[in-house]
Order: sequence, then C-alpha cells, then structure tokens
Amino acid sequence: MASNKKLLVLPGDGIGPEVMREVRRVVDWFDKRQAVRFDLEEDLVGGAAIDAHGVPLADATMEKAMNVDAVLLGAVGGPQWDNLDFNIKPERGLLRLRKEMELFANLRPALCFDALVDASTLKPEIVSGLDIMIVRELTGGVYFGEPRGIEELPSGERRGINTQVYTTSEIKRVAAVAFDLARKRDNRVCSVEKANVMESGVLWRDEVTKLHDAEFKDVELSHMYADNCSMQLVRAPKQFDVIVTDNLFGDMLSDTAAMLTGSLGMLPSASLGDIDETGRRKAMYEPVHGSAPDIAGEDKANPLATLLSFAMMLRYSFDLGEDADLIETAVKNVLNEGKRTGDIVAPGATMVSTTGMGDAVLSALDHLAA
Ligand code: IPM
Ligand code: MG
Repeated sequence: MASNKKLLVLPGDGIGPEVMREVRRVVDWFDKRQAVRFDLEEDLVGGAAIDAHGVPLADATMEKAMNVDAVLLGAVGGPQWDNLDFNIKPERGLLRLRKEMELFANLRPALCFDALVDASTLKPEIVSGLDIMIVRELTGGVYFGEPRGIEELPSGERRGINTQVYTTSEIKRVAAVAFDLARKRDNRVCSVEKANVMESGVLWRDEVTKLHDAEFKDVELSHMYADNCSMQLVRAPKQFDVIVTDNLFGDMLSDTAAMLTGSLGMLPSASLGDIDETGRRKAMYEPVHGSAPDIAGEDKANPLATLLSFAMMLRYSFDLGEDADLIETAVKNVLNEGKRTGDIVAPGATMVSTTGMGDAVLSALDHLAA
C-alpha cells in the first residue's frame, strides 16, 4: 500500500478552528476507509501564533510546511491583532507560507451549485451552471515587489510605496498552469491585466501570447483589461472558462467571482508550486473566505469551503479525483436536502450549525460509500 500522506493542518484564527474541526472528521472518514491514509500534524498560524510565539508563523512551523505533502489552512486575522506592527500582522504568516513555499499558482474555482442559485445576489439565469476557474499569480506583483515601505519626505509629507513587478518566467509559469487547466475544461483562457496603463501589463500580455503561440495553440486565448473583467464578471460571468491574472487583480476578481456563487463560505482554493526533484509539488489548500471574527466560536460558520479545499487537495496533490468527486457529490446532496448554514440559508431550508453541516456531510458520505 502507498505510504501515508503527510499533512500539516493550520486552523488559524476566528472561525478557522471550528471549520477545521469538521474537515478533520472527514479526513478521519477517509483514513478509516484506508484508501488513503494521512499522518496529520496541527500547528499555529496568524494571530494564534502571535499569541503563542510573538510571530505570525514560527520558523519551526515554516520548516514543517516545507516538508509535508500538503498544507491545509483555515483562516487568519482578527480585530485583536489589527493594531500590531505591519510586519507581524497575522496576514504576514500566510504571505510567508506562500512566498517561501513558492506557491505561485492560486486556483480559485467559482462554481454555482444548483441548490444555491437563489443565494446569489445576481439573477438565477446569470449564475446557474456557472463554473469558472480563476488562476491568480500568488508570489509576485505588488504584494512582494521592492521597493516598498512608507518614507518621510524632506517636506514633512509621508510617501507610501509599493512596486508592481513581473518577470518573463513568473508570467510564463502561471500562464502554463492556466493553459493546462483549460485543456481539462472548456479549453478557453482569458488573460487579464491593465496593459493600457501599466508596463507590467504590457509584458504580461506579450508573454502570455508568446507562450500560447509556442505551446498552447489549441487553447482559445483572449485578453481583457481588469476593470472590464470585473464588470463582465457581474454582467455575464458564464462567458469565462479560465481567467489568469496577477496577484492583486486576482485577489479582487476572485472575491467578486466568489460572491456570484452565493457565498464566500462555499469557495475553496489551491495554491501550487513547481514540482521538485523528488516529484513532489508543494501545495497549500485554504478557503477563500477570511476568519469572520464576528461569528467565531458560535458554531455558525460554513465549513464547506474548507472541506472543498480538502477535496482539491485530494485531486491536485494526491491524484485522487474519485475521492474528491465523492466529497463534492456529498456536498451537493446535503445542499439538495435543504441543509444550510446561516450564510446560505433560504426560505424553506433547514438551518444547521457548523457541526450540523459536518454531521450531514459525513452521513452523505456514508450513504454514497454504502
Ligand atoms: C486572500 C486574502 C489575502 C490576500 C490576505 C488575507 C492577505 O485576501 O487570500 O485573498 O490578499 O491574498
Ligand atoms: Mg482576498
């Protein structure tokens, strides 16, 4: 039998620990079936790590992350850490993981479950059947560009600086991921930048086009400015298959895309690096939503985004597509039964707690596996 998969679980802050508790029950469910076994270790990130170690990610935790098969993360941040120095804010823990693990490709699918078409703020016909994939560059651009900082000018004014910067190889490797994914989907990629005002956008468009012409001619490629893309996402989102874009535009566009599906509480993500000498691809999986401090600890949060992130792990890290399908089908069935957490509740539905949603998914899994 294949060796156990090593997982590092980082529940983080706010609703992170409670949604992760439900996901761990599903991990145990898979473990018991013995198709795939996990060695699981849990550690701290974000505010929880600040409280314990004074930093948002301890070096020992970073080291563990570098040596596992995959990382599963809950969420980071909360008001009690908002006034900390910028460099030790909870978010820095997350950004350090992304940067040091070199997780340059962030996959954010936005899929509208039939049972949830009415949960969207858009008309049902606009979102029903929606299935798009945003591929966001995650280790470059203005998030990490130098120079950066806040400086004092001789005039006494202050100046805040960030730098948008991309190199050929950074653009090509993320575009290649997008083209590859498109081939397994509807074979269309829309590349998004602001080439009308930014040089980095001109380069982005140029390199994506060159790579396309050299290696991915079979995939349909189009280009769009980011502002137009944000508008098209709410006007006619089904025109898109795969969108590939930079770190900052990807951050914004993926929140918009998420909301099309009804709730941020439903959306998973995968962050992937390159394949190393041992054949392993560094990877981290996390929900798109944040730590939702307003409902933390109340057993109200929706665990499905984190659960669907675990499904993405099965698919992308362990090539266990059928097991991933099993989770996705279980989620679909639970939604069809009318079970909803507060964020997606609708008239006539049964409101369940975080734990209640975990129970429902487990029994749907039992049912499917029987
Ligand atoms: C995301 C989040 C993060 C980001 C924050 C928490 C640093 O918004 O993953 O989309 O901006 O990348
Ligand atoms: Mg974001």
